Amino acid sequence: MKLNEVLDELVIKNRPISQYGNVANYIPELDKAQKDALGIFITDITGNKFHAGDWNTKFTIQSISKIVTLMLAILDNGEEYVFSKVGMEPTGDPFNSIVKLETSRGRKPYNPMINAGAIAVSSMIKGKDAREKFERLLDFFKLISEDSTLDVNYKIYCGEAETGNRNRAMGYFLKSEGIIDGNVEDALTVYFKQCSIEVTAETLSKIALFLVNNGKISTGETIIPPRVATIIKTLMVTCGMYDSSGEFAIRVGIPSKSGVGGGILSVVPGKMAIGVYGPSLDEKGNPIAGVALLEDLSKKLNLTIF
Ligand code: DON
Repeated sequence: MKLNEVLDELVIKNRPISQYGNVANYIPELDKAQKDALGIFITDITGNKFHAGDWNTKFTIQSISKIVTLMLAILDNGEEYVFSKVGMEPTGDPFNSIVKLETSRGRKPYNPMINAGAIAVSSMIKGKDAREKFERLLDFFKLISEDSTLDVNYKIYCGEAETGNRNRAMGYFLKSEGIIDGNVEDALTVYFKQCSIEVTAETLSKIALFLVNNGKISTGETIIPPRVATIIKTLMVTCGMYDSSGEFAIRVGIPSKSGVGGGILSVVPGKMAIGVYGPSLDEKGNPIAGVALLEDLSKKLNLTIF
């Protein structure tokens, strides 16, 4: 059976699972997504492309942006500085949890994938103000995805900025602890905008391909050192699916990062780059049918890295 046919079959099989989840509604506009949408786009290591279902539907990248911002923050500041401010350990708590910020011994966010850690990382992007910081970050997104059309969905951005009081609270707490050095509002603006970048499953597959190629774009140019690509992939395994990361590692076994917009970006080292879209989320904020689709695909093609 050809891979395109396999993907068609798996989308048909898993689409009904969408009914057991819900589209995110805590950010205005996200609830406009079609609940049973499901799509996948795969680029293999030799550049062949395969897709099925709603692979071309636009949605916002949300938390998947955290891995890209982390790459640029490490390029801008070095690994040592970044991880002096943000840890490397999974939390076992929800992505927007606040509780460990004050109780943890190091008094720093546990990892760069939870919102608190990601806001701290966004504050590290170099630039004289929020505009310059975000321009640099968007240019970096365009460079590694090789897609110059990427842009912010401003309706979603405004919704995030208006309703993101929990994120704002965490930002100010991090400032009071000396984790955020510069202006908190600048850090939050960069964070809300990066989450609101509009993508498709194909875009996610392109960013994943950059990681499959250990930080090289198609011209052969190295954009991030292989060491940084390894850090990102490792954090995807341990923290990429939040407090489901352990279960996901067992069920799917592919380094992945999810977002509440419905995306999952998955990297199968040495083999393929996968983008998934399915906006119906489980109770932990991961795409419910998208995870089931990846589980089936991983079993069928034996993609687990473990
Ligand atoms: O800050 C937030 O809550 C959102 N902009 C991003 C959260 C997210 O995508 C969590 N992912 N599952």
